[in-house]
Amino acid sequence: MAIDSKFLNLFLKATEKAAIGASKFIGKKDKIAADKGAVDSMRRELNKINMEGTIVIGEGEMDEAPMLYIGERLGTLNGPKFDIAADPLEGTNFTANNEPNAFSVIAVAKKGDLLSAPDTYMEKIAVGSNLPENLLDIDFGVEKNIKLLAEAKNKKISELSACVLKRPRHDEIVKVLSKMDVRINYIADGDIAGVLSVIGNQPKNDIYYSTGGGPEGVLAAAALSCYGGQIQGRLVLNEEEKIRAKKLGIQDFKKKYNINDMVKGDVIFCATGVTSGDLAKGVKDLGNEYEVTTFALHKSKKINKIVTNIYNK
Ligand code: FBP
Repeated sequence: MAIDSKFLNLFLKATEKAAIGASKFIGKKDKIAADKGAVDSMRRELNKINMEGTIVIGEGEMDEAPMLYIGERLGTLNGPKFDIAADPLEGTNFTANNEPNAFSVIAVAKKGDLLSAPDTYMEKIAVGSNLPENLLDIDFGVEKNIKLLAEAKNKKISELSACVLKRPRHDEIVKVLSKMDVRINYIADGDIAGVLSVIGNQPKNDIYYSTGGGPEGVLAAAALSCYGGQIQGRLVLNEEEKIRAKKLGIQDFKKKYNINDMVKGDVIFCATGVTSGDLAKGVKDLGNEYEVTTFALHKSKKINKIVTNIYNK
């Protein structure tokens, strides 16, 4: 069943207000305060919506930030039941240091349609649209996946670009990609934008290949699903995290989640820029007003737009 189109503007307002909340801390070197500014504003806005919302993807466990916690109920509790995946501030470091690509993001689907995953790491590979379903597999390894991708895209391997999150844990991935002569575009943080760099008419990358946050994986999957892109993810769980995962109904700790396991049916996705970046422009302080810009998707309505709004201070 499709989500009523009136909800797009309501969820969009939640990311707009969260972005404004975080923007007050741009360059202030305090990522916890920036996150809190975003969380508080987003929660306030979501609680105004006539819905029974439940957070299934929250944030904060990993770095003990102020979170919209998994299981939290939101909205007036009078309206449709929604699963909500939220990252009120993706790019806390970017915000604290006034660097590009920080944004506030949400994905919403009907109850039961989003994977509820704990705030742990997730191995991820993602590719864009018009490729055979389940072409790649984490267990194939880098070399085989790259060969399959080049063949499916009818490109030389040296013409492929891969986005990699710059972390020592990816040294082996980088080694193989370099040996194969794949161009590597590193990101310092922010792997939702990293994953989404594989979509569009002229995508910056052919593949995203890294381990980042699990919540970010499901959020990126929501946007990718509106484009017919693909992602496969596998949670990385230590013993304590396995207990948390079990509580969320996860029994197979080694399960590889394809896009349809993370996002089913209709979905709304909104990302409002805090600092300017690949998805949206950052919050502009106009003196008495704020100008905010959002990348908004609604799958069933085929909506894919950039929305700019002005709010009084
Ligand atoms: P936050 O802004 O919520 O801190 O997340 C930034 C981020 O880069 C995510 O995009 C990514 O999934 C995760 O952190 C990677 O974690 P780590 O920095 O621990 O490698």
